[in-house]
Amino acid sequence: MRVLVPELLDLLPANDPRAIRSRRDLVLINAIMRQQALMAGALSRCPPPRILADLGGGDGLFMLSVARRLAKHWPNVQVLIVDRQDIVGRETRAGFEALGWSCETQAGDVFEAMPDADIITANLFLHHFDDAALSRLLTAIVARTSCFVACEPRRNSFALLAAHLVGVLGCNDVTLHDAVASVKAGFAGQDLSRLWPQGGGWRLAEAAALPFSHVFRAQRDV
Ligand SMILES: C[S@@+](CC[C@H](N)C(=O)[O-])C[C@H]1O[C@@H](n2cnc3c(N)ncnc32)[C@H](O)[C@@H]1O
Repeated sequence: MRVLVPELLDLLPANDPRAIRSRRDLVLINAIMRQQALMAGALSRCPPPRILADLGGGDGLFMLSVARRLAKHWPNVQVLIVDRQDIVGRETRAGFEALGWSCETQAGDVFEAMPDADIITANLFLHHFDDAALSRLLTAIVARTSCFVACEPRRNSFALLAAHLVGVLGCNDVTLHDAVASVKAGFAGQDLSRLWPQGGGWRLAEAAALPFSHVFRAQRDV
């Protein structure tokens, strides 16, 4: 069963040194979890988008890394980073521009302003919400896109053990707390498919992805 506790990164101001350090740790955690490769692999089966919105996209570094894997086949994509904190840096925007993409931000709560986009993504984000909130979020997503991909923590004992060990990698107390919390709130089985709104001709795929992840993909039939 999923267990949710508030994550510390969500509670700290963007300019808090512990939050800044934890966001740096996230780059390492994403790389170890292979989140960029998993997201790029799942996205490569979608038609090239004009607009891609990344929910809870944080500093945009995760999506930039995904963009570097896809830009050769997907030209001129407009990326919209949606997050409560408006923290996409100038260098990150320049990174997207170097690929021929553009990057804008939408600061605010996803529940208040869900953007329209050809593709919507979420990385290490959906697990922040309980099932009732997730149902609302997925309903809003269905109304705004025809392709959705989420890469989330897998809820199992192997991932939980690994989360307890992130301090060994040099990650700070915020990252350690949030890594453990994320696995406990993570997903298994068909957790997300069960919450996906019925009808509308969607093809769903949901599975574990090694070493520590859970990937969900939904595409509307054309
Ligand atoms: C674990 S971080 C992941 C960031 C990014 N996806 C990555 O992989 O580096 C979760 C992000 O969700 C954002 N967030 C949490 N709740 C949110 C909400 N209700 N609306 C918008 N953003 C939210 C936080 O500010 C944070 O940047």
